[in-house]
Amino acid sequence: MARPTSSPCYYKQNGQKSGPMRIHKAVIPAAGLGTRFLPATLSVPKEMLPLVDRPTILYNAEELIAADIGELILITSDAKLAVQQLFGAPNEIEVALEKAGKSDLLKPIVEMRQRLKVKYVAQDRPLGLGHAVLCAAEEVGNEPFAVMLGDEIMLSEPGAPSATQQLVQLFNEHQMSVVAVIEVARNEVSKYGVVKVTEQAPNLWRVHSLIEKPTPETAPSLLALPGRYIFPPEIFSYLRDVKPGRGGEIQLTDAMITLAERNGMLATVLNAMRFDAGDKLGFVQANIEIGLRHPEVGARLREYLEARFGGQT
Ligand code: G1P
Repeated sequence: MARPTSSPCYYKQNGQKSGPMRIHKAVIPAAGLGTRFLPATLSVPKEMLPLVDRPTILYNAEELIAADIGELILITSDAKLAVQQLFGAPNEIEVALEKAGKSDLLKPIVEMRQRLKVKYVAQDRPLGLGHAVLCAAEEVGNEPFAVMLGDEIMLSEPGAPSATQQLVQLFNEHQMSVVAVIEVARNEVSKYGVVKVTEQAPNLWRVHSLIEKPTPETAPSLLALPGRYIFPPEIFSYLRDVKPGRGGEIQLTDAMITLAERNGMLATVLNAMRFDAGDKLGFVQANIEIGLRHPEVGARLREYLEARFGGQT
C-alpha cells in the first residue's frame, strides 16, 4: 500500500491543463473504524458488510464504473485487507469455484476488476475527512476527480444514470466543481455540511459558502452534502492550508469554502434514492430496497412485507 510521504500528504503538481477536463479517477475515504457496526466490524470491515449478497463497496464501485471512471483510490488502513482481497487477485475460494465449474458466480466481480483499477493509500492517523482526501493528492495528480463517501449508497432507477454519472455530466458541461445536495429537515442540518447558495437554473445552485454541521439557527439553507463531490485538483492546495479544527480534524468543508470562492462550485439534487448505510437504520433500509429490486428474492420479500405490514410497502 502506498504511504503518503508526509502528513499532511505530499502533492506533486505536474502537467498543464489542456482542453476540457474529464473525470477518470475517484477517491473513497475508507479508513474509518466502523464503530457504529461493532461487534461485526471487529472482524469484517464495514465496506464489506453485505447489502443482500454484495459488499457495500461494490455498489460504490458500480456507481463509478457507470460514470466511466476507471481508477479508484481507496484511502484505507491495514485493518481493511479484506477490501483489498475483493479487488485483488483471485483467492482460494475463487480457484475452487473455477475448478467446480461455477465461475459464472464470479462474473460480476471479474468484470468489475477488469473495469476498475484500484490503488490503496494508507491513512495512518484519523485526522479527518479533509486529511483523507489530501492523502490521495499524489495519486490523483493534476486532474479533476470524484470523491465518494462509501457509507452513502445512491440507487438510481435501473438503466438511469448513476449518481456519480449525473455529477460527471454536469462537470463536463460546466467545467467546475459540482457537489450533490439533499434537502433535509431543519432539525437534521447539524449532521451535515450545509451549503449557502443562489439558484442558477432549475435544480442547479451556485455555492457561495458552506458550514460544517451548523445549528438549525445558523444553517444557511436546508441543502446538505450527502457525500458525492467532483473537485478540481486545486482542492489539494486549499486542504493543505486548512487548520485542524475540533478533535484535531482537517475538515473537507473548510477547503471547499475556499474552492467555492476562488474557483466556483455548483450543487444539484441527484435523481437517486439515498441511504446512509453507515447508520444502522439506513443500512437496514438499503438492504430492504436492494432486496426488493433483487431478481431472486424481490418478489418474495415484497410478499413478506405485505403480509407482515398489511400492504403498506
Ligand atoms: C461528513 C462531512 C459532511 C457531510 C457528511 C455526509 O461528515 O464532513 O460535510 O455532510 O459526511 O455523510 P461526517 O458524517 O463524517 O461527520
